[in-house]
Amino acid sequence: MRRAMADAEVGDDWYDDDPTVNLLQERCADAMGKEAGAFVPTGTMANQIGLRLHFRGPGHLVAAAAGLHVTSVEVMTAAALAGIAYRTIDAGPRGWIDAEQAAVLLEPDEFYNVEVVDLLSIENTVGGTGGRVMPLEELRAVRKVADDAGVPVHLDGARIFNAVVATGVDSAEIAAESTTMMFCLSKGLGAPIGSVLCGPAEIAREARRLKILYGGAWRQAGIVAAAGLIALQDGPKRLHEDHERARRLAEGIGELLPGSVDLDQVETNMVFVDTEAMGWPVERTLDRLATLGVGGTLSGKSIRLVTHLDVDDAGIERARTAIASAPV
Ligand SMILES: Cc1ncc(COP(=O)(O)O)c(C=O)c1O
Repeated sequence: MRRAMADAEVGDDWYDDDPTVNLLQERCADAMGKEAGAFVPTGTMANQIGLRLHFRGPGHLVAAAAGLHVTSVEVMTAAALAGIAYRTIDAGPRGWIDAEQAAVLLEPDEFYNVEVVDLLSIENTVGGTGGRVMPLEELRAVRKVADDAGVPVHLDGARIFNAVVATGVDSAEIAAESTTMMFCLSKGLGAPIGSVLCGPAEIAREARRLKILYGGAWRQAGIVAAAGLIALQDGPKRLHEDHERARRLAEGIGELLPGSVDLDQVETNMVFVDTEAMGWPVERTLDRLATLGVGGTLSGKSIRLVTHLDVDDAGIERARTAIASAPV
């Protein structure tokens, strides 16, 4: 990947003439069954451009489950950059909404009795609930509710390929249930940085304008796009290993600390460990894990462990043992 980056043919992405970026955008759009793609530095920027494309302006709403990346980490970003306010609903432990919840979200405003929701934003897999996968039939049912309400759908598919690998459903089939979508070439696919917003050709011009507006026209970005091309081609092929390791890790921790891991929640590459249920202070446990060479992050009251291409079998064993000794 580093060699491909060094050898990349580059141009000026501001003017749409970086050949490696353009090739990556085409390939990503193809993989998602969309007509156009915009390569940007971060998933956050891809989401923010995606939301803004559909948003009619302050006073309108974007509907989404509470706790998604857009409604938690990015909530102030959306407010600051576009004046976006959300209408949210608690989707429950799985994290994704069903058709009934989508219908509640898309009801006309109770005070004005007019349509104020410009967009329904969904996420698959859902990071905040452990990388859970929204089943295709649920996705289709939600899309139908949005279609009936005349509301477009934006899919935060940061980890769409984890959903692909977990279900065997093609990326384009998942993405077909959205108007615009984004996915990350970083994270599990292994590129250092980069995400791609994909959608219909008619939004490409405005997406490009917003990309420039948000500071994302990154000149000779072909250097990074070259990594993205490899991530797109090779990354998905090995994600099943991450899923297998996550399951093994979850089972191992579950055996050592019964009740600390909900195995049903482990569908892809994340393991949530509820150490508070064991009576351990979560912050101290995280510090202790770090000293044992195991990186985890806090997600609510759980420790989130993520498997990825730099975690091998020995790493899984190390993490399992470290967790067991964490409160010592
Ligand atoms: C579901 C989801 N969407 C979007 C993002 C944002 O991606 P980035 O960190 O590249 O801005 C993340 C990051 O973790 C994520 O988990």
